[in-house]
Amino acid sequence: MPLLRRRVSLSTIRQQVIGINQKVPIYNGRYVRYINLDNAATTPTLRPVLDRVLEFLPWYSGVHRGSGYKSLVSTAVYDQARVRIARFFNADPDYHVVIFCKNTTEAINLVAARMQFQPGDMVLTTLMEHHSNDLPWRRVARVIRADVQADGSLDEEDFEKKLSLYHRRIKLVTVSGASNVTGWINNIYKLAALAHGYNIPILVDGAQLAAHRAINLSTADDPCHIDFLAISGHKLYAPFGTGVLIGPRRIFEQGSPEIVGGGTVNLVTPRGVEWTQPPARDEAGSPNLIGVVALATALEILSEVNMDNVAAHEQSLTDYAVDTLSRIPGLKLYGSTKPGDKNRLGVMSFSLEGYEHGLVAAHLAFYGGIGVRSGCFCAQPYIQRLLGLDEKDIARLRHSLATGTIKQLPGLVRISFGLYNDYGEIDRLAKTLELIRSRPPEYWLNYLPWNAEFKSYIPENLASHLRLLSLS
Ligand code: ALA
Repeated sequence: MPLLRRRVSLSTIRQQVIGINQKVPIYNGRYVRYINLDNAATTPTLRPVLDRVLEFLPWYSGVHRGSGYKSLVSTAVYDQARVRIARFFNADPDYHVVIFCKNTTEAINLVAARMQFQPGDMVLTTLMEHHSNDLPWRRVARVIRADVQADGSLDEEDFEKKLSLYHRRIKLVTVSGASNVTGWINNIYKLAALAHGYNIPILVDGAQLAAHRAINLSTADDPCHIDFLAISGHKLYAPFGTGVLIGPRRIFEQGSPEIVGGGTVNLVTPRGVEWTQPPARDEAGSPNLIGVVALATALEILSEVNMDNVAAHEQSLTDYAVDTLSRIPGLKLYGSTKPGDKNRLGVMSFSLEGYEHGLVAAHLAFYGGIGVRSGCFCAQPYIQRLLGLDEKDIARLRHSLATGTIKQLPGLVRISFGLYNDYGEIDRLAKTLELIRSRPPEYWLNYLPWNAEFKSYIPENLASHLRLLSLS
């Protein structure tokens, strides 16, 4: 297969984003170009990724299961993608294994299921985790959390203190590469060295970090190496349903797979089963080859654009946004506001005094055609800390939710950049926020076709879009 394509660079990448010129309806029935400031939730597809998928589809067939020519091609492409992905993250072929799964959440759950935790084992994580890097551990171990500081950054002293205090019982350290709320980037290599000082492996939840900064897993003899990495293709410009877990091969050589079925075995008799070697042992069923092709291609594009260029561009957008948003009266930014702070991504959360977070988000869509996320971003303990809510406040909130006196938890509005966003989009965001501020909250509450439950405005023509997709 030739798989030829034009090279891309940071300056040309924007036009390679599928849907970049998509217009959406706003309050007055007119259509404006959509601005996507919700890349932390999911990213759009890059054109070369789709082109590669389309180019590959005529060859698509069963992986590791067929003897036809297309099966051989499909198997070779699948195996080669694994090698490419390992290389992108500088994994150690003697130590790491690349396991394909659905997304970061599934990858983390897989580690929780496969590490053979024993009663009394602990997992050390942080208070800034999203639920996917917290809830899976609660099932298998006692979870302790390093604290965060007022600006949302990790309290490294507390991390070190807890590590030193509990190291005999800690079986795994697991941290976000970067926060999906404040964009704070953890010093994963320093944390890795600290954990390895006690012979404890470290997992990095790379869901937010991978599309924005290079990640160097390194070799097992490097004290700063990363043992496990979990990522999602849909946050890496390849939303085709594949995620990746990279982890120590030895962990997956032991025990039964979490999900059992075809492809995971060497021998099955009516009474017994002999599991095969990793990675196949943990890839039950036919794999999502199209997702794998898409993800490997997206990583190839990111290499071509160069992760340093991605980081520099997004850093510059972040500085511009911090500066622009800080000028809006009543707007409070959470997280670092230091200009040029290299320890943060272009993910930032804010509140607008007097205006409910869901209302602001709905209004940004209704007036500005801007997509953001609002609420707690699947990171409720972190949001509770950032908002200064104590146990009593949380008890009151629980009661209010149960009795229906409030519909939503307190939360924030979040914007998040991708490599293709530009400064004009930040200007439109600021202009729309100023418009919101120009009227009191009551005005908008009555004015918006606002649905508190869905935290969104409901445009009349949404129904026609659903019909387009034969969904209604
Ligand atoms: N973790 C994703 C987000 O932050 C779902 O939006």
